[in-house]
Amino acid sequence: MSADASADLSALLSVDEFEAVAKSRLTEMAYAYFAGGSGSELTLSRNRSAWEALSIWYRVMVDVSSRSTATTLLDHPLRVPLLAAPTALHKMAHPDGEIATVRACGNAGLGMVLSSLATTSIEDVCAAATGPVFLQIYIGQDRGFVRELVARAEKANCAGFQLTVDAPVWGMREREMRTGFRVPDGLSLPNLESGGRQIPRDHSGVGIGNALGWTISPSLSWKDLEWLCETTALPVLCKGVCRADDAATALRAGARGIVVSNHGGRQLDGAPATAEVLPRVAAAVAHRVPVIVDGGIRRGVDIFRALALGATAVQVGRPILWGLAAGGEAGVTRVLELLATDFDRTMALAGCPTVSAITRDLLEPSR
Ligand code: FNR
Ligand code: LAC
Repeated sequence: MSADASADLSALLSVDEFEAVAKSRLTEMAYAYFAGGSGSELTLSRNRSAWEALSIWYRVMVDVSSRSTATTLLDHPLRVPLLAAPTALHKMAHPDGEIATVRACGNAGLGMVLSSLATTSIEDVCAAATGPVFLQIYIGQDRGFVRELVARAEKANCAGFQLTVDAPVWGMREREMRTGFRVPDGLSLPNLESGGRQIPRDHSGVGIGNALGWTISPSLSWKDLEWLCETTALPVLCKGVCRADDAATALRAGARGIVVSNHGGRQLDGAPATAEVLPRVAAAVAHRVPVIVDGGIRRGVDIFRALALGATAVQVGRPILWGLAAGGEAGVTRVLELLATDFDRTMALAGCPTVSAITRDLLEPSR
């Protein structure tokens, strides 16, 4: 990346500004795939507006001269309670793809969740990582294939798994259909290969349902989560939970963490915003395991709001893709820095020297 391009990145002050630059650099099809949601995109927009609606009743006259944004997630230290959410096809955003993302997460002292539909292998991503890498998993028709992928991830020193449970079928993404989304020629999906063979070899269909339909299964049930938890000693987190009762069932099935998510508004349009769901799930989980949330987090102040509602950490999906498209590793590093700095500033302004001081009463004061 040239000095001039880096200078441009440092002039970008928000995730929205990164999105504008990314949009100008991406093909129409790639931007539509990354930005879009399902149906009328109601859940997509609610995810964001629900965070924004939460006022912070800041506390004054607390000595915040010494602050720490640090936390731990399943014994992994994080400089900020933030991870890259699993998103597919990073090489469609930038030729360095997931390697750029994992390096940027490492630079920032954060973790990454690698999509099983990534354009870089779990082995190569883990080799380039300096922080924890979790692998996101879809369970499709072929359970033997999932077992092989789990074994590969274990061997590569992966920190654990996120099993995505909100996709028994793919949501209807109209923007994909309008722009004829397909996996670009020349990109491979190495985590879907088994013994050097991609299963199936053809990802040429239009729309996610046709290109990658086989990777998921409408028969997915709690037995599959139980099976995955028994298959590996690494922690399995259940990603895509929208209800307190489902969170409780996931824990009984062996989940070691819950990810409150609606897939960034790409699956069931009409689902509640994750900010609405989070306090219910956090109450049901009652600190037994970590609760992560994603969807619509665009500023550090949103990380603060999520922690106040009971999250252990948050994930960001699209902000990473905008950073990647705008400037590869340097772009993602800058996006993460903006989020981290804003989180730290919010803690100071709200009177919280540590993440454990970010309590629920900062959103709903009792007096
Ligand atoms: C996703 N997401 C996703 N989730 C998953 O479990 N496996 C995947 O492969 C993908 N792929 C994917 C691609 C793109 C382009 C997007 C935008 C999202 C969902 C993702 O992990 C996360 O839940 C959302 O992105 C969070 O919302 P925000 O941060 O994008 O608003
Ligand atoms: C998506 C899939 C890959 O949301 O999870 O496009």
